[in-house]
Amino acid sequence: MFDFSLSQEQLELQSMVRRFTQNEILPHIKEWDEDHHFEMSVIDKLSALGLMGVCIPEQYGGAGMDYNALAIVCSELEYGDTAYRTAVSVHTGLNSMTLLQWGTEDQKQRYLVPQAQGKKLGAFGLTEPDAGSDAGSIRTRAVRDGNSYVLNGSKLWISMANYADNILVFATVDPSLKHKGMTAFIVERSFPGVTTRPIKGKLGIHGGDTGEVILENVRVPVENRVGEEGEGFKIAMSALDNGRFTVAAGAAGLTRACLDASVKYALERKTFGKAIAHHQLVQQMIAKMEAGLQVSDLLVYRAGWLKNQGVRNTRETSLAKWVAADTAFKSATDAIEIHGANGYSNEYPVERFLRNSKALVIYEGTHEIHTIMQAEYALGFRED
Ligand code: CAA
Repeated sequence: MFDFSLSQEQLELQSMVRRFTQNEILPHIKEWDEDHHFEMSVIDKLSALGLMGVCIPEQYGGAGMDYNALAIVCSELEYGDTAYRTAVSVHTGLNSMTLLQWGTEDQKQRYLVPQAQGKKLGAFGLTEPDAGSDAGSIRTRAVRDGNSYVLNGSKLWISMANYADNILVFATVDPSLKHKGMTAFIVERSFPGVTTRPIKGKLGIHGGDTGEVILENVRVPVENRVGEEGEGFKIAMSALDNGRFTVAAGAAGLTRACLDASVKYALERKTFGKAIAHHQLVQQMIAKMEAGLQVSDLLVYRAGWLKNQGVRNTRETSLAKWVAADTAFKSATDAIEIHGANGYSNEYPVERFLRNSKALVIYEGTHEIHTIMQAEYALGFRED
């Protein structure tokens, strides 16, 4: 028995976040994007609505909804701008959900509860200057010293690096062990030796924060180690199962934004004596966006359904992220095409959509990583 409908609660959530995006993000986003400004009050308002911990159980300060509720939040926010969905992705998808799965009760009380309530912000520190796709080759070192570890290294391309209170940092206790030496730690921004700096000159997500996290002799108490020594790679990959899900859901929202902008423009703009909506090559682009949106949504909700059952979903989530991000990028390209020269100008939102969509294709597993994963699953080289 298949049920493709959203529950009453999910529909109410969807209209609440849609209203939020219309009122709190869309009127300002052009200016914020131009000014490279991340507006923290948006996060405060999301927290007040319980949206920074939507799928965290109530006992840990969240709203107690399911994974597809998280997908709805991400899709609606990305309709406004990728920056705010990215903040939710790293805070909830990559950090809080990981603490829920792997954290001790003490870590949940100290870190998960305030994060789920939106009182503290979380980020995820895996990528390094010389380790992106090859996550198992990180160099950040963790050396045990009594009741703490001393961390040294640098994390790059970290979304929300300059705002997060707590970063889930991956380091190796023994580089010769490769991915089996990786270990996860909760690192507070306030720990001595932690500094962050923003990355300038990004192609897109101008309205969002991306940075470097530098760790110099940072002393992290043993109680802040998540899981055991050597479990870090599995923890990072399981975190990405959730993070990629939020990216996929956001990508669907971005495709919807491309479609809505294109439909509006195609119905208004006239060439050769009729609205361009009546030209079949324009219709072809609109039709592809519509199909891509439906496919993205179906893949996202299927992955969410598996997550709700507690079933391993690495394959399905990777597929959803791969297809939905690619769809958003292609939709943004076509949306500009439909807008013609106007699409090339920031007077219309579609150029921002294109710049932002490229990040979705690259982060949380590049297009190529997901292509390879899907091929390996299909060929039987990879199984969960
Ligand atoms: N859950 C639990 N365990 C998992 C797992 C998962 N999802 N995926 C893998 N594992 C386990 C495997 O079972 C295996 O265990 P054993 O060693 O006990 O056998 C181990 O981890 C190694 O797994 P693989 O053999 O699959 O490892 P691999 O080397 O083949 O993986 C890869 C390669 C898939 C390319 C992986 O390195 C990868 O996904 N790379 C991309 C990294 C990435 O997405 N980075 C994004 C950074 S975050 C970001 O962008 C943040 C931001 O701010 C936006």
